[in-house]
Amino acid sequence: MKQKKLLYAGKAKTVYRTDTKGKLIVEFRDDITAFDGGKKDVLKNKGSYNAEVSAFFFGYLAENGVKTHFVKMLDPRHMVVHELSMIPLEVIVRNIAAGSIVRNYPFKEGSKLNPPVIVIDYKDDSRHDPMLNDDLIVALGLCTPAELKKIKKIALEVNRLLVKLLAAQGITLVDFKIEFGRKGKTICLGDEISMDSMRLWDKKTGESLDKDVYRFNKGDVMATYNTVAARIVHAKKRP
Ligand code: CDP
Repeated sequence: MKQKKLLYAGKAKTVYRTDTKGKLIVEFRDDITAFDGGKKDVLKNKGSYNAEVSAFFFGYLAENGVKTHFVKMLDPRHMVVHELSMIPLEVIVRNIAAGSIVRNYPFKEGSKLNPPVIVIDYKDDSRHDPMLNDDLIVALGLCTPAELKKIKKIALEVNRLLVKLLAAQGITLVDFKIEFGRKGKTICLGDEISMDSMRLWDKKTGESLDKDVYRFNKGDVMATYNTVAARIVHAKKRP
């Protein structure tokens, strides 16, 4: 498969057309950003760690009946995906209160959210990704009520599967963000699921194993990504 013209360059990934209809190549770059792009760096090999973990999660989710855009890896940082028509929603599932939900609401950091809480933000950097509600999502024409119901159902199923997989590796899934798109009429999981888009805490030590290490200068970001990628991907047994 040949990489063709650039379609879209985001903050950490670049998407290219290919010589195959309906297939795109996503390049996971080494750029890392936080706080709406206010903090920026390039960390060697970050892209390949995130690509590896994303590919592993997409494979595991597909085995468990979740439809994703993942096709295959071309090399450690280039992923072939099905082209989707992306829906500009950031679907966040939270099992434990951390991050913006603690800043914006009277939740105590670390308190359990049972059942998990779904928060949906509008993917629009110029507006700082404002939080939406069901009525706003439909009024803005972002998706239909039936699609929204499906998106929430898939998000909770992804959460259930990832919580189980990560727990087997001694990792607590605090929260994560996923994005969806349409392939024809089918809602598919797109984007990535990686250390950049999840909050992971070590079950024993409570240490952060994700982008919070970068956001809050908690330690060596790449050493953390390397260790956590190995812990996730080289898990001997999937649950
Ligand atoms: O990161 P921050 O505390 O500002 O946002 P959050 O709403 O607490 O983020 C919840 C989860 O979604 C975290 O795991 C973030 O890493 C992830 N997220 C993301 O991947 N991309 C965004 N634009 C916003 C959140």
